[in-house]
Amino acid sequence: MDARSPQPLLEVEGICRSFGALVAVDDVSLRLGPREILGIAGPNGAGKTTLFNVITGIPFKADKGRITFRGTRIEAMAPHRIFRLGLARTFQKETSFANLTVEQNVRLGAAFGADLRGKELAAAVDRALERLDLSARRRDPAASLTVYGTKRLMLASAIVTRPPLLMLDEPASGLTASEVADLKSLILGFRDDGMAILLIEHILPLLFGISERVMVMDFGRKLVEGTPADVARDQRVIDAYLGGQSEGAADALAG
Ligand SMILES: Nc1ncnc2c1ncn2[C@@H]1O[C@H](COP(=O)(O)OP(=O)(O)OP(=O)(O)O)[C@@H](O)[C@H]1O
Ligand SMILES: [Mg+2]
Repeated sequence: MDARSPQPLLEVEGICRSFGALVAVDDVSLRLGPREILGIAGPNGAGKTTLFNVITGIPFKADKGRITFRGTRIEAMAPHRIFRLGLARTFQKETSFANLTVEQNVRLGAAFGADLRGKELAAAVDRALERLDLSARRRDPAASLTVYGTKRLMLASAIVTRPPLLMLDEPASGLTASEVADLKSLILGFRDDGMAILLIEHILPLLFGISERVMVMDFGRKLVEGTPADVARDQRVIDAYLGGQSEGAADALAG
């Protein structure tokens, strides 16, 4: 099944969210099929994070619109129930429980996302730590990790329950080129494990290089959506967003 099938994994319809007079998300719709990677680009303040916030309900809901995940309406559902349905996210700012150990952070992710206990919980935590190359750091405080270490900890905490939908908000910001390359293979690996991925990213070679479809937001609205090749060539996108970076997008597509 893909995003055009009758029942996609995630369907967002006519979502709006305002802050006072500012319309941060303005009538946005999208569909995502299982194991699909949808990239979301757009200038600062375009409404990308706000869209993630209202889909997950953290820290607020939409003013208007419908969100259906795995056949269930979630726009009014409590965030912990949404996560139990199999949706996990990471945050734009590096976020961890700094005074807890790396392992305790991942255990919290597991407790939030599923009802795992005992050996099942321990095995899931071990697997996630191994996957994100954090096993050797498991007893260290989360605060001792580097930027990329903290990003990988957020990822471990999100994927520990193997959610069918993973939402990543600028996972590559602040990383070195080799870390971005490592992150790219991690994200593709999650998809190969069966996860669908919504990816917000400013680093366009990464976004265009791994997304099956890309949607560009501007002033809270969806400006355009299509294949990376079509979107990178779209004049509205070049005008509104890519500007001087359009060469970067072309390079990514060539690569
Ligand atoms: N809690 C809030 N209260 C008031 N205004 C907000 C709030 N959250 C977001 N906004 C505003 O909504 C608009 C969209 O913000 P949002 O964080 O969604 O943008 P973004 O596309 O994620 O940008 P960036 O690429 O910089 O992360 C901005 O003008 C922002 O200032
Ligand atoms: Mg943002």
